[in-house]
Amino acid sequence: MQDSCAITVRKFELDEVSTYRSLRLAALEESPDAFGSTLGAERLRTTEEWASRLQGGCNSELDLPLIGQVGTTAAGLAWGKVDRSDRTVVHVYQMWVVPEFRRCGVARLLLRTIVAWAASLETRAVHLGVASAQSSAMRLYLSEGFVPFGQVESLRLGAALLSQRMRFQIPRA
Ligand SMILES: CC(C)(COP(=O)(O)OP(=O)(O)OC[C@H]1O[C@@H](n2cnc3c(N)ncnc32)[C@H](O)[C@@H]1OP(=O)(O)O)[C@@H](O)C(=O)NCCC(=O)NCCS
Repeated sequence: MQDSCAITVRKFELDEVSTYRSLRLAALEESPDAFGSTLGAERLRTTEEWASRLQGGCNSELDLPLIGQVGTTAAGLAWGKVDRSDRTVVHVYQMWVVPEFRRCGVARLLLRTIVAWAASLETRAVHLGVASAQSSAMRLYLSEGFVPFGQVESLRLGAALLSQRMRFQIPRA
């Protein structure tokens, strides 16, 4: 890969609501079976709700809303979130990479950034849910040391799709 196409991952800025909204809606449209939420539900959000969601995340020490870029182009997103009822656990949500930038390492860098953040907060583990049929996502997480745990559960209410919980234990220093 050329330097001009270098992958970077950083926290979203407060004024990037439109970029966040576009990426998230594109994710739900392109990969409807990968997420608990749906395009239909998220399209109903107002501009103010998108702004409030992103700005809430940007301003919280318990959230890490990330954008992945290839060069200066938005190439993916992921959202790290400390579990509000168990502060020893961080969750990964919204992981998605623009199809043309897949297999370049964008998701791996997004995931590693969340794991490093979780370690810096001295949490114990990173958890996520992956649709059982989503083998590329499952391979990504397995390759980064995540292991399945618990029973498969419904991806969303009323759906036949199943989701598998996975976790990564943060090594103690
Ligand atoms: C899953 C997804 C996020 C991976 O993004 P990506 O940027 O292409 O992944 P990376 O390039 O960082 O891949 C890292 C590793 O994951 C594994 N992997 C990723 N995609 C794979 C595929 N299609 N086939 C096999 N292994 C794959 C490989 O081990 C890969 O390492 P390698 O390329 O050195 O072999 C992306 O395919 C995607 O957005 N899918 C649809 C949405 C989704 O499933 N999100 C996850 C919700 S839990």
